[in-house]
Amino acid sequence: MDPRTDSAIGAARPTTKIEVRDIQKVYRVKRENGGGYGEFIVLKDVNLDVYAGEFLTLVGPSGCGKSTMLDLLAGLIPNSGGEIRIDGRTITGPAMDRGFVMQAYALFPWLTVQSNVEFGLTIKKVPKAKRKAISAHYLEMVGLTQFANRYPHELSGGMKQRVAIARALAFDPEVLLMDEPFAALDAQTRETLQDELLELWEKTGKTIVFVTHSIDEAVYLADRIAVMGTNPGRISEIVNIKLSRPRKGSRGSAEFGWIRHKIWQYLQPEEAAKEDFPPIGATDVAAVIDSQAAL
Ligand SMILES: Nc1ncnc2c1ncn2[C@@H]1O[C@H](COP(=O)(O)OP(=O)(O)OP(=O)(O)O)[C@@H](O)[C@H]1O
Ligand SMILES: [Mg+2]
Repeated sequence: MDPRTDSAIGAARPTTKIEVRDIQKVYRVKRENGGGYGEFIVLKDVNLDVYAGEFLTLVGPSGCGKSTMLDLLAGLIPNSGGEIRIDGRTITGPAMDRGFVMQAYALFPWLTVQSNVEFGLTIKKVPKAKRKAISAHYLEMVGLTQFANRYPHELSGGMKQRVAIARALAFDPEVLLMDEPFAALDAQTRETLQDELLELWEKTGKTIVFVTHSIDEAVYLADRIAVMGTNPGRISEIVNIKLSRPRKGSRGSAEFGWIRHKIWQYLQPEEAAKEDFPPIGATDVAAVIDSQAAL
């Protein structure tokens, strides 16, 4: 029999884009009660593979180390142990292959909205006319065309966040790291941008790691959800979301509700709420998720 049967081809392993191996992050912090300095372990033995072209969302309780994880992936902070590789190369700092939208939008206050969006393109030496066309495209996408000539201090928090998103997308990196990029937005803008991001992702094949507090958002966007636990921060569960795409209009479905509840359960501390939640209606559990313990 020809070994290259459909199932053999279909079972081809995805290419790993990002390898996180035994990552530790320790901060030196001042002890309470004035007792000098101690070590605070934020992340301990974190292992994760992110596949090329996948949309991975990261959820976990506040303070579990999601932003720290993303900062490490971006190369913005050094790790205290372990290694992160992208395309097989150990990362040593920020680089052109990664773009990020951080939790606290960091715009350049002395640049206009348009110049902020074009910043990475200027570094890449993209000609002026092309830069302008690209920034106009992404500013339109985030609904800020009329604000191109404003400065960051003249914008609301949500608008600044949208500029940061436009800037990251305009930069067009292979890997996009997004830390709660839509958290400051109203529900309608948030859903619009989720769909725009999915469309862009489907078109470009980018690898996206996206942190969110919203279980709904995590399920709606993800191929896989990495659930983090706290104290010390670690990945406790990785859940495959097998809902078909496009997912527009899927939020009200029984499958969606079931997955949302399942992820909520994974986020509960230890033994709380571990009782099984029966599938709704005809939902075939294996058809909508499977999960694996973290690496
Ligand atoms: N520079 C720092 N020095 C000391 N501790 C830090 C530092 N940065 C972060 N931490 C601590 O590390 C832990 C993880 O922080 P992090 O910002 O990664 O959490 P998070 O999961 O992103 O939380 P949130 O959901 O609230 O954004 C927190 O307890 C925080 O206090
Ligand atoms: Mg955070």
